[in-house]
Amino acid sequence: MQQQLRTDLITDYDRLAGTWWDPRGPLAPLGWIARARAEFVPAADRDGARLLDLACGGGLAGPHLTGKGYRLAGVDLSQLSLNEAARHGYRDLARADLTRLPFADRSFDVVTAGQCLEHVPDPYAAVAEACRVLRPGGTLIVDTIADTRLARLVAITLAENLPLPGRPERGTHDHRLFVNRPRLLRTAREHGVDLRLLGLRPHLREGLGYLAGRRERVRMVPVKATGVLFLGVGRKR
Ligand SMILES: C[S@@+](CC[C@H](N)C(=O)[O-])C[C@H]1O[C@@H](n2cnc3c(N)ncnc32)[C@H](O)[C@@H]1O
Repeated sequence: MQQQLRTDLITDYDRLAGTWWDPRGPLAPLGWIARARAEFVPAADRDGARLLDLACGGGLAGPHLTGKGYRLAGVDLSQLSLNEAARHGYRDLARADLTRLPFADRSFDVVTAGQCLEHVPDPYAAVAEACRVLRPGGTLIVDTIADTRLARLVAITLAENLPLPGRPERGTHDHRLFVNRPRLLRTAREHGVDLRLLGLRPHLREGLGYLAGRRERVRMVPVKATGVLFLGVGRKR
């Protein structure tokens, strides 16, 4: 019998909610990626601009977004994570499924979906929904894990098993939910957004410094290869 898809993660994130901001905890690398993602968010070009962070978790992007001029909104299914996000700059928070957003069409200037598409059974429906709530001219930013053997090796076999600080819990990822890049690009294009993809990896020297206990954070650097962790950015037509 085929094993069930691992989509019951919300209770895990409720249980882990106290660790969102722990620089050596199981969610620590998400903070590094949130910082990299925020660099792709343009400064707001109008008063009252709104940014929606899909599956915002504990709001790790918050500190990197303040100063860009947006009112921050976030949705997540983990209420305890939303409570954390409320303490880090998010003003409008809703416990909602990112594939069925409780917002009108074209209501946000920026929509981000960080490290969440690989946790939902239909990430392409989630991308369509993200495009729906984005206004024309607005920016969509997604980052997730590619559906490759290499990603499975790096993000599951190695990342979840090596006894290192910042290690995600075993079972965090289900490789069958990893995202197909051509289909992601096609879906976004069909909903008005031409995404440009780039890969992300930890800065090697900083990563080693982190593992040696000499530093608390690691910068992510852009790379051409998109076969493991990748980010897509584009504007809505
Ligand atoms: C890996 S964390 C990423 C959190 C945040 N985006 C970040 O990068 O720090 C995945 C998040 O997705 C949320 N999540 C999973 N499935 C969801 C869904 N269907 N709708 C809304 N949130 C979901 C979880 O509760 C968790 O907070």
